[in-house]
Amino acid sequence: MGYTVDSTRLTALQITANIHDAMRLNLYLRTAFNVLILIKKFTCNNPDELYKQTLEIPWEDMISPDEYLSVVSSVNTPTINDWRFASLKVKDAIVDRVASVHDARPDSGPRRENFVVHLYWSGDDAQIFLNTSGRKLADRNYRKIPHSAPMQETLAAAVITATGYDGSMPLINPMCGSGTLAIEAALLASGRPAGLLRANYGFMHLKNYDAEAWQALRREAKKIRNKHAIAPIIATDIDDRAVRAAKKNAETAGVHHMIQFEQCDFEDSPMPEEKGIIIINPEYGERLGLDTELDKTYKRMGDYFKNKCQGWTGYIFTGNLDLAKLIRLRPSRRLEFYNAKIDCRLLKYELYEGTRREDK
Ligand SMILES: C[S@@+](CC[C@H](N)C(=O)[O-])C[C@H]1O[C@@H](n2cnc3c(N)ncnc32)[C@H](O)[C@@H]1O
Repeated sequence: MGYTVDSTRLTALQITANIHDAMRLNLYLRTAFNVLILIKKFTCNNPDELYKQTLEIPWEDMISPDEYLSVVSSVNTPTINDWRFASLKVKDAIVDRVASVHDARPDSGPRRENFVVHLYWSGDDAQIFLNTSGRKLADRNYRKIPHSAPMQETLAAAVITATGYDGSMPLINPMCGSGTLAIEAALLASGRPAGLLRANYGFMHLKNYDAEAWQALRREAKKIRNKHAIAPIIATDIDDRAVRAAKKNAETAGVHHMIQFEQCDFEDSPMPEEKGIIIINPEYGERLGLDTELDKTYKRMGDYFKNKCQGWTGYIFTGNLDLAKLIRLRPSRRLEFYNAKIDCRLLKYELYEGTRREDK
């Protein structure tokens, strides 16, 4: 998006930007979870210091007393062992500060939808952020009917991005569930900004929210469409309810005309003449499925890739590496992902003619 990255961490990167940029980021980023603005960074050794330092921030310029506030904390410091206590201290400081100016205090609670503040406190290093996203950006607002174990939309977008998919080659998504991978692929291929469907963001609850600037950004974003033709996207599932849910979700996302849906076993998914990529996110035994059935499914996926998908590039996203061994093909890449706390892999298989079994 043209910004210079100042620094990166394991799950974050930092840029220098203003609130207008934050609105753009919320609208366009496909794989980010939140867009946060750093308000204050300070040395903090105990909860009283936390309160005092937070009270010094001019919150009355940012939040009006009739707003709803929620505070989220991530705390790793020896002085307290309950993050909720840290959140309470920050919340008290904010409402006390606003009340000292306005004689009224914002409501507060756990709903992370309106004015959301994040505290990161590690050792004696504390940082306070405004969460301009409010709810996590994974909640795009198109998945009205989630089916079994749906993927977070941001994770699905990250998986699609990792494959290098750009819409120019066909994409098959057997076991599509609620359709998240196919829908994110269609959004990406058509160039539609990921955040257009959402009506509520954290930045809308800031005191100086510029609604006109946001509407101008949306108008500009609505005009964006990739010019190139998009190759077929095919989404299938054995469960009729999943296919119906996926269709409905694709309709809500405005991409149903780009996806061909079918109810069938993964092996029978329609295959266009032109070769492309196949992405499968099977159940992986953490939350669903009986392992014996899953064993068979993973073995069959290996056979399917080997016998029916020559010339294609296959991907399997799974959180069960033992089951993945049953595929018995050698992945050319193993990309690490986290699905919530589950350590997952995106396994890539180059399915050349005569792909060899990894016989052990
Ligand atoms: C983990 S879910 C996929 C979730 C999906 N990525 C999403 O975001 O909603 C696995 C899906 O595989 C489907 N499935 C299981 N066995 C299948 C088979 N033999 N053929 C086709 N689909 C199958 C299930 O119905 C389920 O919807």
